[in-house]
Amino acid sequence: MKYDFDRIVDRKSTYDMKWHSAAVESYLHCRIPENMIPMWLADTDFACAPVIVEAVKRRAEKEIYGYCAPMADFYKSVCYWQKLQFDWTVEPEWISYTPTVVASINIAIRAFTEEGDGVIIQQPVYDPFATIVKNTGRTVVNNGLVVKDGAFRMNLEELETLAAKPDNRLMVLCSPHNPVGRVWTKEELRAVAEICLKHEVMLVTDEIHSDIVYEGHTHYPLLTLDERYAQHFIHLTAPGKTFNVAGLKVSAAIIPNEEIRTRFAKMQIAMSLDVRNTFGIECITAAYSPEGAEWARQEVQYLQENVDFLENYLREQMPEVTMIRPEGTFLCWLNFSKLGLGDAELFRRFLYDAGVVCVQGPWFGPGGENHMRLNIGCPRSMLKEALDRIRRAVYA
Ligand SMILES: Cc1ncc(COP(=O)(O)O)c(C=O)c1O
Repeated sequence: MKYDFDRIVDRKSTYDMKWHSAAVESYLHCRIPENMIPMWLADTDFACAPVIVEAVKRRAEKEIYGYCAPMADFYKSVCYWQKLQFDWTVEPEWISYTPTVVASINIAIRAFTEEGDGVIIQQPVYDPFATIVKNTGRTVVNNGLVVKDGAFRMNLEELETLAAKPDNRLMVLCSPHNPVGRVWTKEELRAVAEICLKHEVMLVTDEIHSDIVYEGHTHYPLLTLDERYAQHFIHLTAPGKTFNVAGLKVSAAIIPNEEIRTRFAKMQIAMSLDVRNTFGIECITAAYSPEGAEWARQEVQYLQENVDFLENYLREQMPEVTMIRPEGTFLCWLNFSKLGLGDAELFRRFLYDAGVVCVQGPWFGPGGENHMRLNIGCPRSMLKEALDRIRRAVYA
């Protein structure tokens, strides 16, 4: 069966955060124009895989939506998916149901650090990392990414220095990386893990984007690279990005070490985050299946063609706007420095001249200046319309 990713699905008649002006306004704190094309929030505009839709419908017909618990099928499906995608044999008892990956990061930071401790992140990076660190009274310690030989890279020398400081007790790694789209190599992952092991820094790897990886690149779950990593670190994942089910609140923390798992679980309960979603459980068991895998394979193919489309469009029609081609994720990191507009004017032109909502680079921290993050997880016709509008606005 060939799935149709060109189809436009009406998201205005739902409570979708990405498409409702009022929701966008309260989140971005600015007035949103009526005819906006939202390319900001990191969900896609693709209809869910039919296997998920059918499972949710079947469950809805049962007429009761009380408290639920993850049973054997939930754990089995997470194990199945990790084996299928990454050849990782995960034991069911390593898995904890968590409502979201962001909640899991919050749990891990509170469980494994104290107020005032430093938490290492690699900016520009998904902005809730820094927000959680600040909200929990910890300190953001930035091991900023660098561009070298045409690619974003980690500054491993600086990381070693930062990890050696006793106050810096935890690191959150974004793998693959939002917003720069890097799919870290085995060597890069091993280098980070060795530094964290050596200096007893707890490493939490957010691998929510791990299924969306383009030709020529391979994602490696960090915990698979060495048994010592599995025994010391925490892996976080979810079907939210791949299957566009972020509203169903289902994710998984995979923690092979029993002591670490117990400490994580205690904090999860202390924070009242041991909550589940009836449809989330149905969704994950449906998604992490052979049918789900085929749907995801076709989606990645479509997204890769969107990246090609964007790359060609920039080359031919907006040559001053540059992009280091993403190796994974449906997020593209566009560099507008050559146009010299500055961040405020760039955002104004996007929003009010183009009517296209993107996330401003500075949201992702230092290194985000003069950038915009464009979500290309949408039908190609929508991507083209957005690019035409952006071109007219930034070249006006
Ligand atoms: C790296 C990363 N982690 C986590 C999330 C959010 O996931 P969740 O909704 O499960 O918290 C996102 C969403 O954009 C993300 O890009």
